[in-house]
Amino acid sequence: MTAVMVAARELVKVFPTRKRTVRAVNGVSFTCTAGEIFGLLGPNGAGKTTTLRMLATILTPTAGTAEIAGFDVRAAPDKVREQIGFLATETGLYDRFTARETIRFFGKINRLSGAEIDNRTTELFTLLELTPLADRRVGTFSTGERQKLSLARALIHDPPVLILDEPTFGLDVMAARAVVDAIRMLKAQGRTIILSTHIMRIAEKLCDRIGILYHGQLHALGTLDELKTRFAAPDLEEAFFAAVATEQSV
Ligand SMILES: Nc1ncnc2c1ncn2[C@@H]1O[C@H](COP(=O)(O)OP(=O)(O)OP(=O)(O)O)[C@@H](O)[C@H]1O
Ligand SMILES: [Mg+2]
Repeated sequence: MTAVMVAARELVKVFPTRKRTVRAVNGVSFTCTAGEIFGLLGPNGAGKTTTLRMLATILTPTAGTAEIAGFDVRAAPDKVREQIGFLATETGLYDRFTARETIRFFGKINRLSGAEIDNRTTELFTLLELTPLADRRVGTFSTGERQKLSLARALIHDPPVLILDEPTFGLDVMAARAVVDAIRMLKAQGRTIILSTHIMRIAEKLCDRIGILYHGQLHALGTLDELKTRFAAPDLEEAFFAAVATEQSV
């Protein structure tokens, strides 16, 4: 049996604001098995980032919980953090560091030894084709180059689970392709990947299973073929519109 690596169980996040409370995530449940790429597809404001931030232990759920590699995000957030690499939409890189210094810095934060950091740097820069940029300051990097360095940073401690929020955000077609290829390679290494996107093509091309998130609820969940069949849709975009028109959430 394939191991469940990510399990979201009735996740809810309510943000109290001055005027009213925002139910950003309203009972989201799904599982993701080892070696799978699972995509949360939804429009702006659907609750994608909020869901991923709860999985990454950055936000505490208002209700429900999630387990990553068997560790509960509420009970064992430190253990969860060891199991995950998180790519946020804001890169959090330092312009004055070179790529190599960036990895060294985050490697030290993750308590890796100097030799481990050097090995991981060589490995990750080769995988992500960052070697020619290794000693350049991040401030001079293009958006795509920054995104690849952010991915390297998320992978420094060799986590089995990757949580990627809009991994192709702001990238042109070529840079997006490079990141998509990198994600496929990370899957081929046996990692479990959960990502968010609002781009149909990315979900279609990359994800083994797709959850359609709308107004904080999953309206449908399945493989591309399952979604197309269920909604009698020729492509994901049509399935998406049909799914969000349904009242029922999965
Ligand atoms: N800290 C917060 N306080 C109040 N409301 C919030 C907060 N964070 C998110 N929200 C609200 O929760 C909802 C979901 O936001 P979220 O960022 O999860 O959406 P998203 O699917 O990632 O959207 P996008 O595609 O624009 O990134 C939105 O209505 C947003 O305004
Ligand atoms: Mg978002």
